[in-house]
Amino acid sequence: MKKTTRKGGPSLQPNLETGLIAPSLLSADFSRLAEEIRSVEQAGADWLHVDVMDGHFVPNLTVGPLVVEAIRPITHLHLDCHLMVSRPEEWITAFANAGADTVTIHAEATNHLDRHLRLIRDLGIRAGVSVNPATSLSVIEEVLDLVDLVLVMSVNPGFGGQEFIPGALQKVQRLAEVRSGRPYLIEVDGGVNSKNIGALRRAGTDVFVAGSAIFGAPDRKKAIRQLRQSLEA
Ligand code: DX5
Ligand code: ZN
Repeated sequence: MKKTTRKGGPSLQPNLETGLIAPSLLSADFSRLAEEIRSVEQAGADWLHVDVMDGHFVPNLTVGPLVVEAIRPITHLHLDCHLMVSRPEEWITAFANAGADTVTIHAEATNHLDRHLRLIRDLGIRAGVSVNPATSLSVIEEVLDLVDLVLVMSVNPGFGGQEFIPGALQKVQRLAEVRSGRPYLIEVDGGVNSKNIGALRRAGTDVFVAGSAIFGAPDRKKAIRQLRQSLEA
């Protein structure tokens, strides 16, 4: 079924002043997915970040559109689908139909970024573009008018629980500087915790993905509260 309206609007608004927290499902207990999602929803998460890996673009395999379709009815959270797959164009429509609110594709994964970002928006959902730590922002310069979100990778994608790579801070600053009225959100993904979230916010980050810092904590409410306090400090 083809979507005609842009989704996910209202859920972008509430915490934009202070930043949005997006727990990454990658660090959840997959044997209790529904419970895990409810726990972060009740703990005050703004979005749910879904890491999609194909064992080719990154050295790991995770979930596909089937899982997005299964979790869509059980949560109101904005489903932020991060496609770490080669040839993402083959999967965009399937994720949109499964209920994704944002689909983010990697600049390194396709030769036709412009075409595929337009396709995501044509499907009525938000389009994101991502760059790996070793990729210069210059490769996405020409598509900044076509995106609702820029995802700056602060680890080499593939696994949760890795250490934050500080070069991401300069990229965020640069993206905030060149935004000049464009509506894109700046998202950071990888190694985000209460120690670096304040600096990331000051640099201009709008959306903070956190896997192990939230799902790895016994009390998710406390973990999210701590992240919010640190980002406002
Ligand atoms: C890495 C993923 C991240 C990761 C974040 O490839 O894109 O979303 O799960 O997990 P932490 O916060 O543990 O680095
Ligand atoms: Zn991710």
